[in-house]
Amino acid sequence: MNEELRKLKEALAASPDNEFLRQVILDTMIKNEWWDALQSECLDLIAKDPSNTKAKFGLAQSYFGNGNFSTAVIVLEELLKQLPDDVEASTLLCKAYMAENNLEEAVELYKKIKLQNPDFEDKEIEDKLIRKPEQMEDDGDSTSFPDEIEDQIFGNSDKISFKDVGGMAYEKEQISLKIIHPLKHADLYKSYGKKTGGGILFYGPPGCGKTYLAKATAGEIDSQFITVGIDEILDMYIGQSEKKLNLIFEKARAMSPCVLFFDEIDALGANRNDLRSSAGRNLINQFLAELDGMSSDNDGILVVGATNAPWHLDSAFRRPGRFDRMIFVQPPSIESRVEIFTIALAGKPIESIDYQKLAKLTDGFSGADINACIDVAIEAKLEEAIKKGAPSPLITKDLSNALKTVKPSTKEWFQTAKNYAVYANDSGIYDEILTYLKLK
Ligand SMILES: Nc1ncnc2c1ncn2[C@@H]1O[C@H](COP(=O)(O)OP(=O)(O)O)[C@@H](O)[C@H]1O
Ligand SMILES: [Mg+2]
Repeated sequence: MNEELRKLKEALAASPDNEFLRQVILDTMIKNEWWDALQSECLDLIAKDPSNTKAKFGLAQSYFGNGNFSTAVIVLEELLKQLPDDVEASTLLCKAYMAENNLEEAVELYKKIKLQNPDFEDKEIEDKLIRKPEQMEDDGDSTSFPDEIEDQIFGNSDKISFKDVGGMAYEKEQISLKIIHPLKHADLYKSYGKKTGGGILFYGPPGCGKTYLAKATAGEIDSQFITVGIDEILDMYIGQSEKKLNLIFEKARAMSPCVLFFDEIDALGANRNDLRSSAGRNLINQFLAELDGMSSDNDGILVVGATNAPWHLDSAFRRPGRFDRMIFVQPPSIESRVEIFTIALAGKPIESIDYQKLAKLTDGFSGADINACIDVAIEAKLEEAIKKGAPSPLITKDLSNALKTVKPSTKEWFQTAKNYAVYANDSGIYDEILTYLKLK
């Protein structure tokens, strides 16, 4: 045993409760990379006191130092149950995942550390996990997708069209004018010097049909319609995200005319929670470059984005030629609600439903809220049927009772939206919100 360590141990034997001394011993072992000594020291300590978190961390370090990463992972995962927010332990676990080539877990964990400690940075981890676009290896065929993305983007299972969307006449008309006609009559538009591509943003409160309308739009046109989940892009570790995005646009260009739909696009444009803001910036820049078609021709590619929070979108997104047209997807009007109820109840066992009354009772309800009410009513009906031993049809009363259990969800959104529309209405982008709120 090393002389220094021997002395320290003697001193500790003389005053076994001296925690400081004990920590110095552990630190000395770590500094000198005496992993075996550290391991037996920590095991001793844990045997005496199983809740000793310092010893557990030391033990994990010893396994890690000895290259026994899988055991280090087990010890650290256990330790983090006791100390969920411990940065040191999380960082070491992240490195252990990396050493085991478990990059997915490593990225998840590193994101979590960064979310809780925005200023934290570990160079070793970032160098490995966050690749710069120029460092990305080229896989040769630039329009090929990894299989899992291909499935996700081109999955064409449940086709719907405008007839499945209740009401929303204004939105449908806007979509026809801005999306469907330009794609259908591309030559005519071109002869008037109009481009047929560009960007359109759907915005509005949650549950009012942005995603649903986009899907229905796909059903209305013959052109290709590619849905891109932002999560799928962001979940790739940074650096790969830009490449994925480029591949998606390349694919779209190859299939033009086509619609590229980015749902919940604010996740891409907002950089608050990003792993690292510079990495988030890279992704935004890549997206803007693709939108601008800097290195390629975007004619015939219509990019549709949807968001509940347009104000979180980087303002660069709204410049001319990018998302310069917006469609406000509003809460359904009373007429629309009649239709939503009618569509949702079609084919269900019902009896003389008063649709007008239900529509009147559901001011401020989103389409999703209405569907939720119907689910509640049906469940209550099923319970009743089981109790009585005989089924009975849904009546207006069942639904109006169910309505009381669901809160209209759009009101809260308008409280936020109103602030932006009143105080941050640059060049009148939120005029439609003001009109809706009768403030204009
Ligand atoms: N106008 C509508 N007609 C029929 N169903 C609707 C309508 N609006 C919303 N819904 C229903 O509500 C669900 C949620 O809508 P969604 O498009 O996901 O909302 P958003 O994307 O705006 O948050 C849809 O899947 C659909 O079932
Ligand atoms: Mg949506």
